Amino acid sequence: MARNRTAELGSVVLNGSMFITFEGGEGAGKSTQIQRLAARILQDFPESNPLITREPGDGPLGPQLRSIILDKKDGDVIPERAELLIMLADRAQHVECVIEPALKAGRIVLCDRYADSSVAYQGYARQLDPVQIARLNTFATGGLIPDHTFLLDIDPAIGLARQATKTSMEREPTAFHNRVRDGFLRLSTQEPDRFTVVDASQDPDEIAEQIWGAVQTWIA
Ligand code: TYD
Repeated sequence: MARNRTAELGSVVLNGSMFITFEGGEGAGKSTQIQRLAARILQDFPESNPLITREPGDGPLGPQLRSIILDKKDGDVIPERAELLIMLADRAQHVECVIEPALKAGRIVLCDRYADSSVAYQGYARQLDPVQIARLNTFATGGLIPDHTFLLDIDPAIGLARQATKTSMEREPTAFHNRVRDGFLRLSTQEPDRFTVVDASQDPDEIAEQIWGAVQTWIA
């Protein structure tokens, strides 16, 4: 249970909820691993009723907000600060309308990208101030921090080659994606207790085993 959540949720704190996020660059295999993890949780701990959700996109306005950024055409101008604020608006709504209610109901929430993505992409890669973004994340989320974060780390050259169709973000140059990767790795060293870094170039079965091994100990 994330620290800042304890005060807010009070007595619900022991209800077995858990907030796990998955982060990483393009083509790291997050969605496959989230699906696999949810299936195993459902099998062994069905009472946890895992919820899979993602950012940007799964809040009520998510599809529109996601489309503004990721379906951007060449020539569309979205200033970097505007891009950041759209991500944060999506996150604020997603937390309030989707994540918090699920946690209050005692569910395990598996979220494909969250606040760290804004620091890595808009901060380290777009080169806005990562410290300021962290503060804005706190505002947007009301202080909700994941209990655990898996960073699926992969060389962008390998990850991007796995993507059949590319969003406008994925069409950014290699240097951008290298900064994303370095940003995530830096975040993981700043908060080693929250982050578990997984080598995403491994066989998917092996990755799934490593993730499951960690999650089992947390649930237990
Ligand atoms: P998506 O197609 O969902 O990619 P992935 O499967 O890799 O998550 O697109 C999400 C994109 O949005 C991805 O390129 C990362 C980017 N993003 C940000 O730039 N900032 C953010 O805060 C978030 C949540 C995502």
